[in-house]
Amino acid sequence: YPPPPPPPPSYTGTKLVHDPDHPWQPQKPGDLRGPCPGLNTLASHGYLPRDGVATPEQLIIAAQEGLNMNNRLARFATYSTFLLDGNIVTNLVSIGGKSNRTGVDPPFPAIVGGMSNHGTFEGDTSMTRADAYFGDNSNFDQERFNQFRNFSYHYGDGYYNLTVAAELRYHLIQQSIATNPEFSMMGFRHLTAYGEATFPATMFVDGRTTGSEEGQLDMDTAESFFKHSRFPVMFHRSNKPRGIEPALDLLAVHPMLPGRNVAGVNSFVADLSMGSTIEYCNMYTQLVNETIRGLYPNPTGVLKRNLKINLRYFYQSLEYDYCIEVFPYGMH
Ligand code: HEM
Ligand code: MG
Repeated sequence: YPPPPPPPPSYTGTKLVHDPDHPWQPQKPGDLRGPCPGLNTLASHGYLPRDGVATPEQLIIAAQEGLNMNNRLARFATYSTFLLDGNIVTNLVSIGGKSNRTGVDPPFPAIVGGMSNHGTFEGDTSMTRADAYFGDNSNFDQERFNQFRNFSYHYGDGYYNLTVAAELRYHLIQQSIATNPEFSMMGFRHLTAYGEATFPATMFVDGRTTGSEEGQLDMDTAESFFKHSRFPVMFHRSNKPRGIEPALDLLAVHPMLPGRNVAGVNSFVADLSMGSTIEYCNMYTQLVNETIRGLYPNPTGVLKRNLKINLRYFYQSLEYDYCIEVFPYGMH
């Protein structure tokens, strides 16, 4: 039976997280790393299993403990990813590519592709990973990081902050529209693209910083996380739990609707059919009824039971009581 989501920790202030119990270790052959610099780092420090295969409960606890992500966002990110990329029967998900260590796959059309799988959770216009169309959507991409750095110098005096994030997010979308004929940023990806752009400014900055230094990420620290999956020396996590709310501020600076290129480069058409960051409940409904249902059209037995339980955990993570819960596999 899939265990319930872990609660928030009792202490949620800053603390040393690069501590003697969590030394950085290089990857061993076969260890999985993927498109999320947060989870990669947590795995390389042993907050997650170092091989990169974890349960939803482990992901939530690690995100809270190691990087002070708030409980709601940790649950939202975890259950959405788990439903899209994980093995619902064995309760395991790879933070990188597909792996036989998550166990026997449920029947086609289930993918269980791990977090590097393109088009389920992972999507285009990431900051430090290329679009899948260009070949590698999972490993660190030096050229994209150079843009991250250039924008931080241009708009942030050498630091990445929410002002830089708003400009870079908009720029990367325009760049993908102009260069990736298959560019897509539909409903759920609209939210994650804006959300993830805020995380470096909120969760990669040392929690001891105060005043005007708060929310300012220096480039050495950025490179340490994005490229080396490594906490800086003496790294302290954020001084308060962090959520996804600043995503709305980025969107307000340069409003962009969800959509995709429909006929090659520069053919972007807005498409609200899968919801958006703003149309949050519609996004939830479409993700469940279209995307997840598409992967699991006819589940039976333990698979069906676990899908229903995890869908419930996902719905509960919305914490928006005006979103109406949907039950693609029945209520009971
Ligand atoms: C990106 C999953 C927690 C920071 C991603 C992506 C996935 C993912 C699948 C790839 C999306 C894409 O860019 O195409 C998760 C899950 C988490 C989690 C399941 C569980 C709680 C965290 C935490 C941080 C973080 C705690 C802390 C800062 C980021 C950033 C990106 C990202 C900055 C964007 C990377 C880029 O654009 O190059 N995450 N994540 N994540 N995640 Fe996480
Ligand atoms: Mg991506």
